Amino acid sequence: MNKGNFPLGKFQTLDTPFYFYDIELLRETLRTVIQETSARGYEVHYALKANANPRVLKEISSLGFGADCVSGNEILCALDNGFPSSKIVFAGVGKTDKEIQVGLDNDIFCFNVESLPEMEAIDELAAKSGKIAQIAIRINPNVDANTHKYITTGLEENKFGLNESDLPEVISLIQKSKTLRLIGMHFHIGSQITDLTSYKNLCIKVREIKKWFIDKGVSFEVINVGGGLGIDYDYPNDHSIANFEEYFQLFENNLELDEGQTLHFELGRSIVGQCGTLVSRIVYIKEGRTKKFMILDAGMTELLRPALYGAFHKIENITSNGKPCKYDVVGPICESSDTFGEDIFINESKRGDVIAIRSAGAYGEAMSSKYNCRNLPESFFSDTI
Ligand code: LLP
Repeated sequence: MNKGNFPLGKFQTLDTPFYFYDIELLRETLRTVIQETSARGYEVHYALKANANPRVLKEISSLGFGADCVSGNEILCALDNGFPSSKIVFAGVGKTDKEIQVGLDNDIFCFNVESLPEMEAIDELAAKSGKIAQIAIRINPNVDANTHKYITTGLEENKFGLNESDLPEVISLIQKSKTLRLIGMHFHIGSQITDLTSYKNLCIKVREIKKWFIDKGVSFEVINVGGGLGIDYDYPNDHSIANFEEYFQLFENNLELDEGQTLHFELGRSIVGQCGTLVSRIVYIKEGRTKKFMILDAGMTELLRPALYGAFHKIENITSNGKPCKYDVVGPICESSDTFGEDIFINESKRGDVIAIRSAGAYGEAMSSKYNCRNLPESFFSDTI
């Protein structure tokens, strides 16, 4: 069986459940992204929503990445953990006045604006604060990401971004405003995208919209194509680093940049997904009438993805070399959806065994909750454990 390289002796001394981060893998992933982007002159803003663990953030900021934030608190968290305000972008359909003010007060690089009323709100608040606000308009490209419905964002039926029919109004608002500086256009079509033709379709749309603006005499310094690159949940050891070369090459091949234009990305999952593991213990093995339940001390409170999206995470018993048996792996929470997998083959297991739930670095710890009055999970790191 293909298992991750875990410090099992140490794990056995720790209370479960907890998150374990492989810092060497994170660094290698970051180095790969840098290698693929620096020569091309691309800028990457790490999407904090995927994982805002301070140690993880410091690793990422220390290598010069920017930050993609979706709340006022995420902006403050990015700043606290070493991201410079000059590299912070701020997206979100419901930015409150207070959150916009956080962005203005900290002179962030850019607001990714998602509606005309939001543009007006930023304009008003910037004027009151005596600030110039740099904005990029988030355009809903109506491109299908071919991913899970809940993490598709670039279709007309989704709440995100402006529609193309709003664009003439954007231009007239900009012409009237003394405080808004339109520097770019922004897109994000969804998450866990494994079919890269979706990105090709996005590039076609970006070229079209770019041309529409050029015809109106408007040019941009920033083209931000968002994030969404998927990871391999089935084979985390074989593909511990996403195929960044293919991904960035696709943009190089399909999106010609004008003089002075920079291509920006907002990657979350593909940066942190594979370096995180949720470590848990078996509380009980319960023989049902037709099923065998493996009941863990981790549940949807620590890792919500399976319950919310039916997402698959590879589950390994790292203390057993027994023959594979079929289990339903469940958590302790009082919800039937608190299930990590049904009819999964795992080495024969017993109460007290240590279980690794893989590829949990993105949208794992970040989405954990205190439901059932549970404690939020602790985290440990490969270089300090
Ligand atoms: N930029 C924007 C505007 C976004 O909305 C997102 C993710 C990203 C960038 C980063 O996308 P990534 O590279 O991580 O795919 N909780 C879900 C994923 C939600 C993604 C939301 N937006 C999950 O666990 O699959």
